[in-house]
Amino acid sequence: MNTPDTTHTPSQLIAQLTRISKTYVSGENRLEVLKDFSLDISSGDFVAIQGKSGSGKTTLLNILGLLDSDYCGEYRIYSPDRGMVPTRTLRDAELSRLRNEVLGFVFQHFNLLEHLTCLENTMLPASFTKQHEDNATYRRKAMQLLEQFNVADKADNHPSQLSGGQKQRVAIARAMLMNPRMILCDEPTGALDAQTSQEIIQCFRTQNSQSGTAFVIVTHDDDVASQCQRIIRM
Ligand SMILES: Nc1ncnc2c1ncn2[C@@H]1O[C@H](COP(=O)(O)OP(=O)(O)OP(=O)(O)O)[C@@H](O)[C@H]1O
Ligand SMILES: [Mg+2]
Repeated sequence: MNTPDTTHTPSQLIAQLTRISKTYVSGENRLEVLKDFSLDISSGDFVAIQGKSGSGKTTLLNILGLLDSDYCGEYRIYSPDRGMVPTRTLRDAELSRLRNEVLGFVFQHFNLLEHLTCLENTMLPASFTKQHEDNATYRRKAMQLLEQFNVADKADNHPSQLSGGQKQRVAIARAMLMNPRMILCDEPTGALDAQTSQEIIQCFRTQNSQSGTAFVIVTHDDDVASQCQRIIRM
């Protein structure tokens, strides 16, 4: 049985956006949100994205997260089999696989499924993979992550039985399950108080320094941004 590789080589390029432009068109109206936007993300990066409401932060995360391919410019992403590949050359199945195994997502409102327990939520990405780990291996890994983020005692509870900070820690465990290279976070502390926010950022930092997982964090919170190694202003 293979155990997932938990160490990433230093400073491997993961995502490279080159001169990305994005315009939303509805009827007669055109709204240019990104213009010639370039960005490199490598392993070990811990990056904040800041900018006023409507400046295009979520638009950028949707592109980085392979959720939106309707833009001009080039996006190359790390594929475990093929190294850096232009996303335009990838078929839907390959895009889904990269979304599940190379990327992780953390959202402001946690996006946990209420009909599943916290352990089942954490294990969800495993149900979309063709990797050859068995269910027991993913269950062990999910429990380890819940322990690491201090919510193992909530494994059998449903999300509504948890506090906001606990829900976000379950969501981070879920984002980590497949050992992704890059985690995209849209206002991950937006629904949390200052102390809980700090705990969540600490979880990210630990993961980042121990495994080199890159974090791209959209945040309005200057305290959060000041703890990032780079701040990108939109
Ligand atoms: N699907 C869409 N169709 C048309 N316009 C859109 C669409 N999605 C977003 N927009 C517009 O694009 C601009 C950028 O939106 P986006 O969600 O990226 O902003 P944001 O920086 O994330 O803002 P916030 O901080 O409020 O979350 C906004 O003016 C928004 O109204
Ligand atoms: Mg947004």
